[in-house]
Amino acid sequence: MSKDVQAVILVGGKGTRLRPLTLSAPKPMLPTAGKPFLTHLLSRIKAAGIDDVVLGTSFQAEVFEDYYGSGESLGMNLRYVTEVEPLGTGGGIRNVLPELSAPDILVFNGDVLGGTDVGDVLTTHRESGADVTLHLVRVGDPRAFGCVPTDETGRVTAFLEKTQDPPTDQINAGTYVFRREVIEAIPAGRPVSVEREVFPELLARGRHVQGHVDQSYWRDMGTPEDFVRGSADLVRGIAPSPALGDRHGESLVQDGASVGPGAVLIGGTVVGAGASVGRRARLDGAVVFDDAVIDDGAVVERSIIGRGARIGRRALVRDTVIGDNARIGADCELLRGARVWPGVQIPDGGVRFSTDV
Ligand code: GTP
Repeated sequence: MSKDVQAVILVGGKGTRLRPLTLSAPKPMLPTAGKPFLTHLLSRIKAAGIDDVVLGTSFQAEVFEDYYGSGESLGMNLRYVTEVEPLGTGGGIRNVLPELSAPDILVFNGDVLGGTDVGDVLTTHRESGADVTLHLVRVGDPRAFGCVPTDETGRVTAFLEKTQDPPTDQINAGTYVFRREVIEAIPAGRPVSVEREVFPELLARGRHVQGHVDQSYWRDMGTPEDFVRGSADLVRGIAPSPALGDRHGESLVQDGASVGPGAVLIGGTVVGAGASVGRRARLDGAVVFDDAVIDDGAVVERSIIGRGARIGRRALVRDTVIGDNARIGADCELLRGARVWPGVQIPDGGVRFSTDV
């Protein structure tokens, strides 16, 4: 399979919805279940027998090559093409064309945690003879996503942006197969959106756009809530990742981390390398990056604790993002979507959501 197919991963976005974490690292490089998110996606691509991958980079482009190099340690051949100015999803695909030689090109959004069989999407593409095949996933509430109806043969009939009244529960899952010629026809050198421009135009011109529909595991990791859920699903084995093997459970404690007596780690919590969790602390669905410190008796629920950050004694942190090296004083409460910027120091008891003392 590998000679006929190459993969492109779009990793050039700024990841604004995950700030402040994405101020210091691009979204696909944030640690999830102890590895950069992108490693999970690369391992799925490799498991499908594809080892030739081009990364379309822009924002913090150098971070990817510094970490993965030529891809040798993964047994893959990785190359990098950088946009000086971000060209959007379609422009990013067009920009890597000089590196593409295969007749079929698999394209992945770099922030999707998925469980679909990549080989099955390719089979649908080949058997249907389509110009482009889109992986479509069925979800409970399609209103927040691109909605993509298909006819009885699976051919895509429309490409609708987020709508309050979606005609189907099938959404664009952010994985595509393009015939190389379709990529050649995308305008070069200017920003192009594949969702808003390329797909609607292909349909308007009567080109064959096929849907590959399934109900596989799927999560866009773009928001803190989804990032926390996706990381926990990886830890618990609900989201598949060949990069993790069979190491599943209620929590994952990385080498070099320490956990004090009486601490409770549940809900798919991950504790990064060099991090420490104090006595009787309670972590439920927490993502604790490397070298962070959770002091005695602190409670962290469904939150991301940035690298080197410190959560003081008995503090409560729930549905919150704490930036790298921030310090949250003892007895603070941070709830419901709070975001603390890197390096900020909140004194003991300095933020409360209640009047109890
Ligand atoms: P937000 O700012 O939070 O919306 O995140 P984002 O910038 O990552 O945008 P979005 O989630 O819509 O992007 C989907 C995927 O496309 C991600 O993997 C991005 O890295 C990637 N992407 C978005 N814009 C560009 C771009 O201009 N160039 C490249 N190469 N990739 C992009």
